[in-house]
Amino acid sequence: MPEENAVIKSILSRRSIRSFDGKPVPAEQIDKVLECACAAPSGMNFRPWHFVVIEDRAKLNAIAGAHPYGRMLSQASFGIIVCGETRRGDSVSPWWEQDCSAAMQNILLAVTDLGLGSVWLGVNHNEQFKIAENLRELLGIPEKIEVMGIAAVGYPKESKPAHSGTDEGVIHKEEW
Ligand SMILES: Cc1cc2nc3c(=O)[nH]c(=O)nc-3n(C[C@H](O)[C@H](O)[C@H](O)COP(=O)(O)O)c2cc1C
Repeated sequence: MPEENAVIKSILSRRSIRSFDGKPVPAEQIDKVLECACAAPSGMNFRPWHFVVIEDRAKLNAIAGAHPYGRMLSQASFGIIVCGETRRGDSVSPWWEQDCSAAMQNILLAVTDLGLGSVWLGVNHNEQFKIAENLRELLGIPEKIEVMGIAAVGYPKESKPAHSGTDEGVIHKEEW
């Protein structure tokens, strides 16, 4: 198989990186990552995504404090809060979470290709931590917009082996 292929290489070498050196990433690279995010497939082409890009250190620290498993954000070069506009007028997207997840994965793969590390931080309606509510307040995210997740991105200070092979028992050919 063509493992030298850039896309396959990025997919297999992408790992969750949770240690960064905090150095800034050039603006044009962040723009390219956002372009890749907006290239994700979208059910009914609704394109529900919104991206809140955070480079400000004080804000990254505040978000790190608002997420129970997001401490690494305080060392990240930037974070992208992936949000979903679930309805526009009478039009409702039943696919917004899938669409936003596809956009998130594009972000992770694009940053891998740029030599950066990243980790996806989940945001759900957790009664205990109220992550989405805290982010809404910190960043002025409107009530009608859902918060899907956060990408923490930066120059990696750890390395992990690439993925290889398939998981046991999960591939079913022709039938289950
Ligand atoms: C929906 C989702 C939520 C996640 N939330 C967190 C998180 O809050 N904190 C964290 O450190 N990693 C989080 N991760 C990363 C996973 O822990 C990681 O993808 C998994 O352990 C597999 O490792 P890999 O990404 O290196 O292949 C999340 C991943 C996904 C897809």
